[in-house]
Amino acid sequence: MTTVSALTTNQDLDATRLRQAFGVFPSGVVAVAAEVDGELVGLAASSFTSVSLEPALVSFSVANTSRTWPVLRTAGHLGVTILADHHGEVCRRLAGPVEHRFDELSVTSTDDGAVTLDDGLARFDCTVHREVEAGDHTIVLLQLHAVEHADTSLPLVFHRSGFGRLAG
Ligand SMILES: Cc1cc2nc3c(=O)[nH]c(=O)nc-3n(C[C@H](O)[C@H](O)[C@H](O)COP(=O)(O)O)c2cc1C
Repeated sequence: MTTVSALTTNQDLDATRLRQAFGVFPSGVVAVAAEVDGELVGLAASSFTSVSLEPALVSFSVANTSRTWPVLRTAGHLGVTILADHHGEVCRRLAGPVEHRFDELSVTSTDDGAVTLDDGLARFDCTVHREVEAGDHTIVLLQLHAVEHADTSLPLVFHRSGFGRLAG
């Protein structure tokens, strides 16, 4: 059976409306981080997704207004950590004032500068494979060089602008 669509075309797709609609889709959250010139640099991103097994690729989208990305992209390697359900506060901090993003965080840096959180669900050592312009964001394709994951806890879930968790 086909229902006659009530989806009106040519709507005014303003940012608030889009943000609300996009927010219906639940996602995990990652920390993308590196050490650049001896400083820890990073941000929280809910746009992370797995992309390809061969070659091993993941992606996330970064706003073109980001002041962190132009610095982060200069790192030799980037670390990506999948946040756990207890990381709500950590996530907010990683999206807040740059000088406090790594406060109280236990992290590990590789020789190439990839920085990962020590208590995440999974961590990836990556390099930038390609950047694709996509409107007001850039899709960053990351090539994976090392992967490590734990099966022990649940992910942080971002949904409708708030944090939730999966029923364990
Ligand atoms: C749950 C959550 C998810 C976020 N996801 C993204 C994202 O996918 N892409 C992005 O560019 N910023 C995202 N942000 C915002 C960044 O973490 C950060 O606040 C933003 O990049 C501004 O800081 P900057 O100018 O230092 O980059 C997210 C923030 C939160 C709290």
